Amino acid sequence: MAEHHSLSAPLLSALPSDHKHHLVINVQDPIPDQTESTALQSQSILLHLQQNGESNNNPSNPFEFIGAHESFELPSYSTIDPFRNHTLNIAGVYEWVKIVICLPIALVRLALFGLCLAVGFMATKLALHGWKDKENPMPKWRCRLMLVTRICARLILFSFGYHWIKRRGKPAPREIAPIVVSNHVSYIEPIFFFYELFPTIVASESHDSMPFVGTIIRAMQVIYVDRFSRSSRKHAVNEIKRKASCNRFPRLLLFPEGTTTNGRLLISFQLGAFIPGYPVQPVIVRYPYVHFDQSWGHITVAKLMLRMFTQFHNFMEVEYLPLVPPHENRKENAIHFSQRTSSVMASALNVVQTSHSYGDFMLFAKASELNQENPTQFMVGMAWVESSFHIKTLEAMDFLETFLSMNPDPSGQVEFHDFLRVLRLKPCSLSEKIFGFIDVEKIGKITFKQYLLGSAYILKQPLFKQASELAFTECDIDGKNCILKQELRDAVTLAIPNMSEDELISNHNPILIIMSNEDNSLVFDASVFQHQYNIPSQFIWPDHEKPCPEPPPVLNLPTIDLGSFLSGDVDSVWGATCLVNQACREHGAFLVVNHGVDLELVEEAHKGMDYFFGKPLDEKQRAQRKIGDYCGYASSFANRFSSQLPWKETLSFRYSADLQLSDIVERYFLNVMGENYRQFGRVCQEYSEAMSSLSLNIMELLGMSLGVGPACFREYFEGNDSIMRLNYYPACQKPDLTLGTGPHCDPTSLTILHQDNVGGLEVFYDDKWHSVSPNPQAFVVNIGDTFMALSNGIYKSCLHRAVVNSKVPRISMAFFLCPKMDKMVRPPKELVCEENPRMYPDFTWPALLEFTQKHYRADTKTLEVFTNWLQQKSSQDTTTLNG
Ligand code: OGA
Ligand code: NI
Repeated sequence: MAEHHSLSAPLLSALPSDHKHHLVINVQDPIPDQTESTALQSQSILLHLQQNGESNNNPSNPFEFIGAHESFELPSYSTIDPFRNHTLNIAGVYEWVKIVICLPIALVRLALFGLCLAVGFMATKLALHGWKDKENPMPKWRCRLMLVTRICARLILFSFGYHWIKRRGKPAPREIAPIVVSNHVSYIEPIFFFYELFPTIVASESHDSMPFVGTIIRAMQVIYVDRFSRSSRKHAVNEIKRKASCNRFPRLLLFPEGTTTNGRLLISFQLGAFIPGYPVQPVIVRYPYVHFDQSWGHITVAKLMLRMFTQFHNFMEVEYLPLVPPHENRKENAIHFSQRTSSVMASALNVVQTSHSYGDFMLFAKASELNQENPTQFMVGMAWVESSFHIKTLEAMDFLETFLSMNPDPSGQVEFHDFLRVLRLKPCSLSEKIFGFIDVEKIGKITFKQYLLGSAYILKQPLFKQASELAFTECDIDGKNCILKQELRDAVTLAIPNMSEDELISNHNPILIIMSNEDNSLVFDASVFQHQYNIPSQFIWPDHEKPCPEPPPVLNLPTIDLGSFLSGDVDSVWGATCLVNQACREHGAFLVVNHGVDLELVEEAHKGMDYFFGKPLDEKQRAQRKIGDYCGYASSFANRFSSQLPWKETLSFRYSADLQLSDIVERYFLNVMGENYRQFGRVCQEYSEAMSSLSLNIMELLGMSLGVGPACFREYFEGNDSIMRLNYYPACQKPDLTLGTGPHCDPTSLTILHQDNVGGLEVFYDDKWHSVSPNPQAFVVNIGDTFMALSNGIYKSCLHRAVVNSKVPRISMAFFLCPKMDKMVRPPKELVCEENPRMYPDFTWPALLEFTQKHYRADTKTLEVFTNWLQQKSSQDTTTLNG
């Protein structure tokens, strides 16, 4: 994952040696989380440690102390606007005369356009009617119906004046080139390719709600992507891969530039088409013109359509180029692969390549929105900025917003006093130096590009974070790893006497989020927390619970080949039961392989989790778990407990094997999360069913290993009423202080856990924590408290926990098998004897569940405390009765 700086800003000066320093804290505009699509804005704090008296040893470079050089790289100024339409205004007599002459034709064209749209739309509606299984290729008859729409599409092009279209080359067979990439100039190419290839496309989710277009692209089995969400992008790439790999799907068409340009250059490519590593066929589209530029940049659709309707003819040329195959080593070459393809296309088009991206368009749009006279000058070549400085578009937009509030002049430049005003700096020699550092041309004014790159350059300095932490520590007087509102207030009042409290707490600063939640209900927002170096104290576990500083020893759990066990082969049954018996007496955990669960289903569930957990907090909170409930979304239990919080988010739901409730999971997702979660709900339903049947097979094994026969527990758990939990552990910058899940035994009967490739599960055995290496092909099975009671204490409820790491998020899926609500938890009589008398009283699972939800946080002693509580309660009841 890319580096992220939650404490960001360029303004750090040399640390003082002996003077008492005072602190200037500047609360800057929000910087949204770079990995999220969300509008949720994580704030940046601008910390500026300043020495009293302003003496500074280094005369010119205020950032030397964090390793910055005298100056930063600044590419030469470019005035290229890749999005500019060159005939925005109707100019010249010829053009006006043509428009007047063409007006009657335009009306006919408009009528043709409307008619084709209507017919095409109806045909598409019909083709989509009753089609549920949208994950699979469209059935033949529906595709045939779509031919009507395709012909309408060609007629629409005709109505736009594209009477004939010149083609060169041919589309390669789908089997050889599953992916086609094209440059993107207008809405004309998608219509053309729809007519010619009927491909699947990748488009932003916003298209779905567009009239006509939404329906038609749904018929193209569009892959939706939210370009600002990592998980959505990842999902899209997986979908591209999946569809490309199956010849029954149509070709995939991608516009790697990600937006339309004016066709006079090729902007930087996004990697989606190149990551899967399939051969791509580049196609280039040109619109040769003399009077009217058909490109769709800075011009409204209506105006562009009107202009198209009033041309005699519009020229379009499409050229299919030879295939570009990937190199051997797939993943590593995605960037390289895209560059090769892009240069092939650029030379065929005879245009230059630039480092602009859609981000530049967004900067442009923001500047226009904020009434800048010449918004083009705020484009920076975002693709280059992003790859060189790890600054994402959303962050750059926030820098832009700050910059624009400095009132740039018409040439887009800002003067020193405005810079001070907006950043709330005092006029002093240090501020001058900071400004001078950014002002590389030394003209007393800075451009947005200089401001952005200067800031980005400082943020990238490895020592920057350390310096920020130091500044934080200065604020954090009593070392709680968390600045109290009062402390910040004191520090700020000292430094900036005129800053009001409103200004302080109106911001969404990660630290302020914590501070402004005075009722202690800490909000665990992974998108913010995963980047924080000072994790809130609520997440810091006591020393004896903290993860081991050394990597713990690996516990080699016995691996049970379930398929062989179920085959009934005598040796296999014997081997498996012995291994399980030993493992469950010692620590209560083992692995199963050859379990019959489709690994693609697991993969799909992972994808769905990436999708869900990648969503903004407010969306996830639609499923917010209520206090006392076990279903729903919980971010770190933050509303239930106030200390030793786990570093995780979870989504839990009920599964029931009761036939009457056969779509309980699916319905839950639909009801709580809405239509967009229908598919994920289905996957979870199917996954839970797979787990339920797997658990019954494991129950046969457990029964055999305990000597009570295969049917005893299997039958007991038929009709089980279980719980599924999806765990998401964000990365944590202080993984050695916290735990993803604290030490606990699962109160349920049996847990079947699938962990991804990251690793983090630990099992307590032999007085030490041991790690359980990830094996995506296997499930980790562990005994829970209820089964411990069912086995009359012979089998151990497994004591386990999960640790987190600083680099990547981790996911795991846990299926907690539970008996049907009314079943009594009582061991079979074969397991009770004189040497081994009853260990636990009778109870029902709902009683234990309620106990853990309302009275007790599951930990290492749940069952013990629960049974004491039960016994106490029953003796109280008896006393009351007798009294
Ligand atoms: C749990 C659990 C461990 C893990 O959800 O109860 O113990 O590795 N999870 O996610
Ligand atoms: Ni657990």
